[in-house]
Amino acid sequence: MIKQAQFIKSAAGREGWIDDQINEICFLGRSNVGKSSFINNLTNKKKLAKVSSTPGKTKLLNFFDINNGQFRIVDAPGYGFSKTTLAEKQQFARMMEDYLMNRSNLKGAVMLVDLRRKPNADDQQLYNFLKQLNLPVILIGTKLDKLKKNEINKNEKLIKNTLNYDQSDKFIKISNLNKGDLMPVYQGLIALAER
Ligand code: GTP
Ligand code: MG
Repeated sequence: MIKQAQFIKSAAGREGWIDDQINEICFLGRSNVGKSSFINNLTNKKKLAKVSSTPGKTKLLNFFDINNGQFRIVDAPGYGFSKTTLAEKQQFARMMEDYLMNRSNLKGAVMLVDLRRKPNADDQQLYNFLKQLNLPVILIGTKLDKLKKNEINKNEKLIKNTLNYDQSDKFIKISNLNKGDLMPVYQGLIALAER
């Protein structure tokens, strides 16, 4: 369980990374998919990570301490935000690549996908990249509340097929509107953080 969560700092690049041995799990996904909402949900703090109906709200890496040093959650900016300039996109790609490839504290990723949508090229590229780096991934399908019953399994299959899902990863469907059973998510996070 997450009993304590606290924002530590934001960083635009490696000069802002924290110099210690605490393990990190990075939350990634398309802009507006619900990353920040999910972090608030998991930590039971409504205003921990900034949520917005305007995509592109999160622009830096945001570091959160969990359970007084047990591990850290890192909230990343979303990708695929159409109003972003090319220069901003390049800066974002550099920041994320450097963090994902070179951050020794990083033990795994939580990648969020919208359950209503077929993953696009950006999603495929990110998942492939994480797999190339041998990072275990917890895939979180968000906005379950928006699906009809008969779409749930169909959409999960489409997402897994499109991403070329690695069977050793986890896939968990959630809604940030109604808090369901988050135990599998906690267990998954702890397993990654203690790896
Ligand atoms: P960026 O910071 O721009 O990358 O976005 P984000 O992925 O952090 O998304 P955020 O949590 O800010 O949520 C974006 C919008 O989606 C907000 O209006 C949320 O209220 C809404 N939202 C998030 N999760 C859910 C969900 O499970 N169901 C529904 N219906 N809406 C959601
Ligand atoms: Mg966000």
